[in-house]
Order: sequence, then C-alpha cells, then structure tokens
Amino acid sequence: MIKALRGMKDSLPPESEKYLYFLERTIAIVRKYGYEYIETPLLEETALFKRSVGESSDIVGKEMYQFVDKGGNDVCLRPEGTAGVVRSFIEHKRDRLGGVNRFFYYGPMFRYERPQKGRLRQFRQFGVESFGEESFYEDANIILMLKEILDFFSISYTLKLNSLGCHECLPPFREELVRFLGDIEDGLCEDCVRRKATNPIRVFDCKNPACQQLLEPAPRLGEALCLACDRHFSDLTKTLEHLGVPYEIDPNLVRGLDYYNRTAFEFVSESLGAQNAVAGGGRYDRLVEFLGGRPTPAIGFAIGVERILEMITLPSKEREGYYFGALCEEAIPTLFARAQKERQSDRVTISYQAKSLKAHLKAADKAAARYCVIIGEEELANNTIWVKDLLQKREEIRSAG
Ligand code: HAM
Repeated sequence: MIKALRGMKDSLPPESEKYLYFLERTIAIVRKYGYEYIETPLLEETALFKRSVGESSDIVGKEMYQFVDKGGNDVCLRPEGTAGVVRSFIEHKRDRLGGVNRFFYYGPMFRYERPQKGRLRQFRQFGVESFGEESFYEDANIILMLKEILDFFSISYTLKLNSLGCHECLPPFREELVRFLGDIEDGLCEDCVRRKATNPIRVFDCKNPACQQLLEPAPRLGEALCLACDRHFSDLTKTLEHLGVPYEIDPNLVRGLDYYNRTAFEFVSESLGAQNAVAGGGRYDRLVEFLGGRPTPAIGFAIGVERILEMITLPSKEREGYYFGALCEEAIPTLFARAQKERQSDRVTISYQAKSLKAHLKAADKAAARYCVIIGEEELANNTIWVKDLLQKREEIRSAG
C-alpha cells in the first residue's frame, strides 16, 4: 500500500474541521487589525531563501526541498512564508507606494527536518507581515494581536522577548562573541563549531546542555545594544507592561532565520513538549532593501498550525438543518426531491436507504441535525412528512408541499 511520505500528514475530520474553525476565527481577529489576504507560490527560486533566511541557517543549510526543474531553474518548496511575501511586495512595487501595508497568509511550508512530535516536513503556518511602520507600537500591536488569537482559543503560553540589535550594534557584538568563542578550546557541538564560523549569534539557540554551560559566561547582545535599539526595546516592554501583558526576556532567543533585527519574540507552550514554540516572529527592517526594494521597516510572525491545533478544542457541533430518511423504497424519489428543495436554505443530509425509524433517528443524531424528516407509506399516501425536532424533542406531521 502506498502511504503518505514521512513527516507529511493528511488532515481529516475532525482535525480538518478544527483547521477551518481556527482559520475562520483567526482571520476575523487579524482583519480587526487591518490585515489583508496575500497568496504567494509554494515554489520560489532557491536564491530567494538563500538571501533572506540566510545561508548559515539550518533551514537553508540542511532542510530545503530544493531541485532543478525541467527548465533548469534552481527552485525550492518554500520553507517559510516571509521571503515570498517580501519578494511579492517588491515585485508588485508596493514598496513605492509608501504608507503601511499589512498582509496575512496561510498554507503549507516544507522543511526536511527529522520528524518528531510537533515537527513535520510539510506543516502549515498562519502568518502576518506588516510593512512600513517602524514605531515600537507596531511591535506591541502585532504581539497583542497574536496574544488575542491565543487567548481566544484558551491556550496557555509564555511570551519570550529579545532584541537582536541592528546593523550598528550587531557587528561589534559579533566580534566580541567571536573572541569569546575563540577562547573555547573544545566542548562545543559540531553545529556550534559551524555557527562560530558562519553566524556566531546562533550558538545561543543551541539546545545541547554542554554548549549551554560553556556559553554561560558569554557576552549578551542585550548589554551591547546601541542607544536607538535599547530605546526601541524598552519602549516596547514598557508598553506591554502598561497593557498588563506578561513577558520574559530571553537573551538566548536569537531565532533560526537570519533576516531579523531588533525585536524577536516567541510564544511557547509547555504542553507541547520539546517543540514548544507555537508561534514566532520579529522585525526585519532591512530585508526589503536587501532584496532590491526601497528601504521599508517590517515585522511579522507565523503560527505553527499543527502545534496550535493540538491545543484547540472544537466547540461541540450545534444541531443544525435536516436529516431526511425513508421507511420504504417507494418514498425515496419524493424524499430526494423534497430534500433538494430544503437544501436551498438549510444544511441537509439524506439517506438513500429505506430503514426503520429508530435507525434514522440514530443517524440524524450522529449528523447533528436539528430536524429528522421521515417519509413512509402513510406519509406518501397523505402527501405529508413526519418531522421530529431533535432539540425540543417534539414531533409533528406537516404537509409535504
Ligand atoms: P519560524 O519560527 O521558523 O518562523 O516558524 C514559525 C512557527 O512555525 C514555529 O513557531 C512553529 O510553531 C512552526 N514550525 C516551524 N517548523 C515546523 C515544523 N517543522 N513542523 C511543524 N511546525 C513548525 C518563520 O517561519 C518566520 N517566517 C515567521 C515570521 C513571519 N517572522 C516574521 N514574519
């Protein structure tokens, strides 16, 4: 038997229904904040991700579904959504219009990772990207919006925050860190040795306890921020405090993608296990310019759909619409025509098999129908239908008209 590929999942009811419920409610929330829908292709030129997510990241370095297509183009299934949205924003000259543009998107992403609980090779994200606003209020706004989404679904979480500095304060800090790392003779894991050479601040993301111990006395970016970055971060944290939003500053939060600067954040939920980040994001003020657009500050986040669905309970279905059943074969044509008429205004499920009343009532209950409509010999003869209101527990005979 042919099975789905490792790390790729089908979505069937009730999980698939939960996804639609999540989308519907989340879209309603982001629309309140002025976000509009954007859709970009699943396949992009590999160079887009190399330049934005970064060659030194694990995503680009090890996890891309990359191939050469029939036209000889080096292409890649998108490992994340931000890069494609930025490309589209520039390609459609939205960067030249000025003002603020806010987008949301959702759909599958692909990373060739080692699958485990909460980590798939094809997974879905719900993401937002805001362009053109450099105020720390936009950082607060986007964090509040994400918090509103998680609160709506009654998810418990911790908000982790950090500042990654900017092109002024990051390079001198990086040099200081490289000097510190240079003094460590051995003990760092293979990945950290590689990071030391390619993107040293990523060492803080290492989960290896030996590396974490070695990094304990390392210099921290939070203490090396320039005045403007320090101000941006303290204005943001003050605003969150003013609004009563609890947060934790996590100096190890460096994110796995290279385009970030200043604010970086993650919402983590202990109930998820090892892969505990339900959503993550941050500022990327230089990416639009770096990919060829006009300088445009930007910030965004993405929610891991599979992870959030684990923690959402689908509200119990309310009884709705009709269930149609026949007691004898001869009643089925009439039943079919009547059901079709009712379907113009209501949800209708219909059984094509003649069955006992008891069997139909059971099926109507399973279909969460409000009314069970039955036609048997008697109803056919009298041109009537038998209707039971399954909520009010009342029965009546109605004219079939
Ligand atoms: P990210 O942290 O790589 O950020 O992914 C965002 C979320 O996607 C994670 O917090 C996690 O919930 C989920 N996720 C990531 N990888 C997997 C996986 N293999 N299986 C299941 N879920 C996963 C980004 O992708 C950025 N583009 C977010 C962003 C938008 N930053 C600015 N704008």
